[in-house]
Amino acid sequence: MRVLVTGGAGYIGSHTVRRLLEAGHEVIVYDNLSRGHREAVAGVPLVEGDIRDGELLRSTLARYGCRGILHFAALSLVGESVRDPQAYYLNNVGGGLTLLQAALHCGVPYFVFSSSAAVYGEPHEMPIREDFSLEPANPYGETKMVLEKALASYSRAYNFRAISLRYFNAAGASSAGDIGEDHDPETHLIPLVLRAIMTGEELTVFGDDYPTPDGTAVRDYIHVEDLAAAHVLALEALERGSPTAAYNLGTGRGYSVLEVIRAAEKVTGKKVPYRIGPRRPGDPAVLVASAEKAMAELGWQPRYTELEDIIATAWQWHRRRPRGFKG
Ligand code: UFG
Repeated sequence: MRVLVTGGAGYIGSHTVRRLLEAGHEVIVYDNLSRGHREAVAGVPLVEGDIRDGELLRSTLARYGCRGILHFAALSLVGESVRDPQAYYLNNVGGGLTLLQAALHCGVPYFVFSSSAAVYGEPHEMPIREDFSLEPANPYGETKMVLEKALASYSRAYNFRAISLRYFNAAGASSAGDIGEDHDPETHLIPLVLRAIMTGEELTVFGDDYPTPDGTAVRDYIHVEDLAAAHVLALEALERGSPTAAYNLGTGRGYSVLEVIRAAEKVTGKKVPYRIGPRRPGDPAVLVASAEKAMAELGWQPRYTELEDIIATAWQWHRRRPRGFKG
């Protein structure tokens, strides 16, 4: 299928572009390069544009005759969304609705949406299932929830179907070692742990007084290539007639911050310099996915089930490109 991938030059987008191409799909990347990297999609047609630019979206979809859209382009930092919710609503909700308007205008029937575990807020029961109530605890999660709801309503009214994929903690890098995570500023745990190892810069562990076995927060780390594979399966499921739905993507296993540090030390053979600091506002204690639904309905199976294997791919990337794509 010929597909438009918004945010295709970003971290999860670029790994998915590669997987789509491997599966024989035709890809046009649409990215404003505000956070993405041209080099991450070298050799792939790239339209440099913003998702709030309805005219450019319509002309691009029409020009290439796209049948599907994979929508990654979004702002995605929880803390930033608390400080500047307007940017998140304008970009993620406003831009998302503009993209949907263009999709309907051009008769694009299939849509795969980057959603997030952040739509759940902080459930008290683990693992998290898709039928849990959506109670986002920050503006970022709110924007993802609003777009999911728009997708559900639009698909009841129009000739259009969508799959929302609720990612838990994306991690790792391509097994080939040539693309990986490169955020500026970096806020995610695994790249910061590896940076601490490489530079000696001390990592701050955000809180050791959570109600978890070692007191540090627990997350479900899912390899970026496993996320990428799920997008291709979702697109193909839509093409076969699957209805609009939402799926969790995680491994079903949680690791604490200290367990991540220990695993990174094992992979690299080096010590992580760290200190314990206060909690980061808005961080839930535990987020672990039930991904049974994606496994049963999409036929998805994460290939990376061990944290050390995930970290090893990230280590390969960061060692090769310590300054990211710019280096
Ligand atoms: N952490 C630290 N020190 C750091 C950075 C992170 O202790 O310097 C901790 C965090 O407190 C958290 C864990 O490591 O407990 C993971 O933090 P990340 O920032 O890597 O990821 P988050 O769980 O905060 O958020 C990620 C995505 C969000 C998404 C969420 C869903 O960035 O977009 O997963 O689970 F909403």
